[in-house]
Amino acid sequence: MHNYLVVEIKFMAKLKILEFPNPRLRIKAHPVEAIDEKLNQKIDDMFETMYEAPGIGLAATQVDYHYRLLVADVSAEKNEPWVLINPVIIEKDGVEVTEEGCLSVPGYFEEVERAEHVKVRYLDRSGSQVETEFDGLLGVCVQHEMDHLEGKLFVDYLSEVKRQRIRKRLEKNRRHHSQGTAAVL
Ligand code: NI
Repeated sequence: MHNYLVVEIKFMAKLKILEFPNPRLRIKAHPVEAIDEKLNQKIDDMFETMYEAPGIGLAATQVDYHYRLLVADVSAEKNEPWVLINPVIIEKDGVEVTEEGCLSVPGYFEEVERAEHVKVRYLDRSGSQVETEFDGLLGVCVQHEMDHLEGKLFVDYLSEVKRQRIRKRLEKNRRHHSQGTAAVL
C-alpha cells in the first residue's frame, strides 16, 4: 500500500529591493485595479522579501512594482501579516517621533515625526474595503510605506546636507561591496 503525500507547492521568490538614490523609488504608484493571481503572487513574494531582509514593512515601490500595495508585520513572532491595497488616510491626529530605518536606505536610522494615530481605508487581500485605526509601530510603518507609494523616502524629512551625506556613503559602500542590512521599515 502506498501513501501519497500531496503537497501544494507554492513558489515564492525573493525580490530585489531598490536602494536610495535609485530614481525608480521616486515613481508614484498607480491604483491596483484587480486582485488577481498576479497580484497575489506579488504579495507572497513581498512577504518573503520582507521577512528575509528582515524588515517589518515593504511597499511595492521598493521592489520596482508601481502599484498601491504594501505589506507589514510588526509582530515579534512574524505571524500578523497585513496587506493594504489602495490605502488612503482618512483621519489622523497626534504627533509622534520615532527613529526609522528603511530597507531602501540600509544602515541609517533617523528620527521622523508622524501622526500618532491614523485611520486608513483600503482593500484587504480578499478585496473587501475596510477601515482600520493604526497607532504605535504599525501606525508609523503604515505611514512610512504609504510615503513610498508616493515616491517619498524617510530621508526626505531630513536636512539636504544630511540626505546628501547618506546618499554619498551608500554609493561609496555599494562601489566597494554590497553590505548587509539591519533596517526595519
Ligand atoms: Ni522604507
